[in-house]
Amino acid sequence: MDAVLDSAAQPPAGRPPAVPERLTAFVTDYCRLLPATERMAPHDALTTLADFLVRDFPAAVRHALDSGLGERQVVAALAPLREVVSGSTLVRRAQEQPRGFPGDFEMIEYILAREVTGEPGSFGWLFDEYLLHSVVAQQHHNKIAHQAALITAALADPAARPARRILLIASGGAADLREVDPDLLQPGDRIVLNDMDPGALAHARATLPARTAGHIGTVEGNALRKAAVLEETGPYDLVLAGGLFDYLDVRPAQALAKTVLQRLCRPGGTFYFSNIATGNPFAIAMKYGADWPLIEREERDVEAILEGAGAHLVGSLDIRRDPTGLTLLTEVRRAGAPRTSAASAIPSAGVSAGITAGVLPRPVRSGTVTTRVRHGS
Ligand SMILES: C[S@@+](CC[C@H](N)C(=O)[O-])C[C@H]1O[C@@H](n2cnc3c(N)ncnc32)[C@H](O)[C@@H]1O
Repeated sequence: MDAVLDSAAQPPAGRPPAVPERLTAFVTDYCRLLPATERMAPHDALTTLADFLVRDFPAAVRHALDSGLGERQVVAALAPLREVVSGSTLVRRAQEQPRGFPGDFEMIEYILAREVTGEPGSFGWLFDEYLLHSVVAQQHHNKIAHQAALITAALADPAARPARRILLIASGGAADLREVDPDLLQPGDRIVLNDMDPGALAHARATLPARTAGHIGTVEGNALRKAAVLEETGPYDLVLAGGLFDYLDVRPAQALAKTVLQRLCRPGGTFYFSNIATGNPFAIAMKYGADWPLIEREERDVEAILEGAGAHLVGSLDIRRDPTGLTLLTEVRRAGAPRTSAASAIPSAGVSAGITAGVLPRPVRSGTVTTRVRHGS
């Protein structure tokens, strides 16, 4: 738990402030209400869960923090409620982190499968049914579909050179690659999967279509420390880092973007990464109820990361949002090859964008990321 709480947000030493009555009442009320959803009509149960997660949980926690309570005290005050919500398979897994961190590949696969475990009709089952059909789960489906479309576009591009190179950083179980038609792969094509969790790589190997699996290599380890090994198979036409930036502070995010653009992505190739956007309605419940904090960003934060990584490496930049608006999908064309060259641009994956940022026909200025070109525009 310690790693996810902001020590700067702790109150000064000495007598801790009292837990606000509002937080205590919230905990007491929902410790009673949540299990009672089992006996409610479906509509009432879903309304109760929605009120809990996106209205009352954030309000009670914000009020407590504003009243001077530290993050650790908030979590301590939430303990009885955290115990109740651990009836959910997803929440329990996030709280216990059996693979050592939240967002492991098994959690991702559980979200994507949308097959809730547990006793149908039980509170835990209802809770996961709600979560797995919520907007925050949908953004994950959208992200995977977008990533699959990017890989498909890279492989289907008739102008791409024959031995294509694709790298999936923090691939997890490679749910995106699983959706790609294996017939698009040609002799010599190589797809490298990187993940720090060997279980994720094993799961990817076991679940990819056999003909796709025949083209993959794996590199186990922290992507931030594996550039030299990843470089051996490069340079890559397409580098994807789906989900990883949600867990990276600015410095490691900049370092990774720099490594990808300088050493891994070929000139004219594409570097894609996603990041959860600000405004996730589940963010507070995820952080304080399930120990699953995500680093939210806006378009300007993504631009700052790329500026820090090296604006001269950015040929063009496209930042769009998935249809829920909750995920930023960033595509960078690596500078160094003309946009019109045969294999320079991967066609747009065709996701219906919620908000599109960066249609700025301004010239590239040294030291800043000012050219932001929408693919296909
Ligand atoms: C970040 S998500 C991404 C999964 C997948 N790419 C997607 O888009 O859903 C979870 C995966 O990232 C892996 N991961 C987290 N940090 C990593 C790092 N620094 N280097 C390599 N893999 C990492 C975890 O092991 C886990 O399998």
